[in-house]
Amino acid sequence: MHLQRRNRILRQTPAIRSLVAETILRPADFIAPLFIDEGQNVETEIASMQGYYRRSIDLTVKEVKALWSMGIKSVLIFIKCKDELKDNTGKEAWNKNGLMQRSIKAIKDAVPEMVIMTDVALDPFSSYGHDGIVKDGEIVNDETVEALVKMSISHAQAGADFVAPSDMMDGRIGAIRNGLEENGFTKTGIMSYSAKYASCFYGPFRDALDSAPGFGDKKTYQMDYANRTEAIKETLMDIEEGADIVMVKPALAYLDIIREIKNAVEVPVSAYQVSGEYAMIKASAKMGWIDENKAILETLTSIKRAGADLIATYFAKDAVALINQ
Ligand code: PBG
Repeated sequence: MHLQRRNRILRQTPAIRSLVAETILRPADFIAPLFIDEGQNVETEIASMQGYYRRSIDLTVKEVKALWSMGIKSVLIFIKCKDELKDNTGKEAWNKNGLMQRSIKAIKDAVPEMVIMTDVALDPFSSYGHDGIVKDGEIVNDETVEALVKMSISHAQAGADFVAPSDMMDGRIGAIRNGLEENGFTKTGIMSYSAKYASCFYGPFRDALDSAPGFGDKKTYQMDYANRTEAIKETLMDIEEGADIVMVKPALAYLDIIREIKNAVEVPVSAYQVSGEYAMIKASAKMGWIDENKAILETLTSIKRAGADLIATYFAKDAVALINQ
């Protein structure tokens, strides 16, 4: 055979392959989600997310120091609200001395350079487990947005660098931006979960925070996974309203959406490899059916290749360890 072009030449050895690799993961690509609990010296493994923990503030601070020393530059904070503080207004979400606000301060004090992003949505604080205020069985939009603005301002006040609205209410990015401006928080960023789909892959996360919806599902606010154009509409609107970073969520089942958004926008695009994606890899690795480390690198590289500039992932630490090998 005489071939003019032999594509396998570039695949011959690990050295050649690394010379021509198009997508390279680096520690600063990752956002590490953290689940925070009340108490002292508390560390609880999440049953459906083996190897992942909910920690009290003191142990969270230790973890944040470890993440920073590995080169991870950003954390995304979620808190587990006590049942007795949950109601239908979600008012614990903007309590100055709430667990979220105390966590932000403690992390800022300990590792001031770490970029702190905070989840903005009512579900952990809602007695109904919904991302918004419930009236007559409906999740009402405009009143919820008012609550999200208060929540965002209180996170900024506590020292958050970015607020990350994950609720999918209409108009919340513009309202949050106005709220931040009116209160002098001109340096607080907004990472919008702009294309967030109603997905089965959030199941383990809802175990972690005990935040599963008490009735119905989230399909009246989160997006239908059948839709693609709508993701672009949502994302462009969020940018117009003031989002600094946009997000596609989940990641692996939505690589096409990540790419479309990447091609359509001029702001950084993040993707969230969610709890169910983590759990699938963990469970099948535990069964001996796939190689966990290889699955971590392959999925994260494919998410970056699809167009994600940043990736929120429960594998952040593992990935950095693997990259450094
Ligand atoms: C809450 C929120 C959810 C996630 C992030 N923020 C759950 C949901 O929308 O039901 C999911 C994260 C994950 O599954 O890892 N608004």
